[in-house]
Amino acid sequence: MKKIVITCKLPGKRYENLLADRNFETVVMNEEEHKNLAETLAKISPDGLISMLSDKIDANLLAKMPNLKVVSNYAVGFNNIDLAYCREHGITVTNTPGVLTDSTADIAILLLLMTSRRAVEAEKYAREGKFKGWAPELFNGVSLDGKKFGVLGMGRIGFATAKRAKAFGLDIIYWSRRRNEAAEKELGAEYCEFAELLKECDFLSLHLPYVPELHHLIGEKELKTMKKSAIIINTARGQLIDEAALADALEKKEIYAAGFDVYEFEPKINEKLMTLENAALLPHIGSSAVETRSEMARMVIDDCCAVLCGKAPENLVK
Ligand code: GLV
Ligand code: GLV
Repeated sequence: MKKIVITCKLPGKRYENLLADRNFETVVMNEEEHKNLAETLAKISPDGLISMLSDKIDANLLAKMPNLKVVSNYAVGFNNIDLAYCREHGITVTNTPGVLTDSTADIAILLLLMTSRRAVEAEKYAREGKFKGWAPELFNGVSLDGKKFGVLGMGRIGFATAKRAKAFGLDIIYWSRRRNEAAEKELGAEYCEFAELLKECDFLSLHLPYVPELHHLIGEKELKTMKKSAIIINTARGQLIDEAALADALEKKEIYAAGFDVYEFEPKINEKLMTLENAALLPHIGSSAVETRSEMARMVIDDCCAVLCGKAPENLVK
């Protein structure tokens, strides 16, 4: 019988169905097994693996699973997987694109609103019982209407975020590895060179996948070219930004504020960032809506089973 390992419990009906499916032997790792990922996988030697974005599926680990036919990653991003190794060894890789586009775009806008209107500080103030009455200058933030929203990476999530930003009255400018005609036509998005985008934008939102060439795309040098009033939002991958450099810039008020859903050394968060009131910090919940996470579970399970049955998966990573 084909063996499937899931590195942790998933939500939804499809998951329950898989556990009851007699055509596969499914093992769901407990915390202890998950901690000893390599050891556990070597012992079980699965035919199919359902992994989380926080599982590092590198060549070393893959080499311990000689029967492995498929890795289904419970995420749209797949920078945690050694794709070259998989290609070389005939291991199919799948992901969960599309379904999490809107929920992730919502979180990007949430972070933009939280930072522009100082919601982190204001909520804490109210909760601490400090609210003693309305005042003209109590937590003045900045407005969105008429400002420039810079999108780095105009893929599905970049587009969905830009569409929301447009509804708030923002003008969209973008840099992407490929021009996006739909964004230009439907949202009036204007394509900019990278350096120009950084200089021009009032708000910057990252929507690129992580690849080594994009490591620290935003570093100290780039931050210095941006407006002091700029807000940076990252719902993509932490390693796109030099987190320490951004923390410094936020502390010195060289950047107005930043909203994070992802971190360079996840789950570790830069200590300085943790102390700054102009940083909004979320724990990587971009796709975390019940509907989204259940559908992601369906996608990875269907694709893992399809490959093990010799069929084509729905969401092949090419
Ligand atoms: C989340 O970060 C994902 O890649 O799905
Ligand atoms: C994610 O789905 C993207 O392509 O931006």
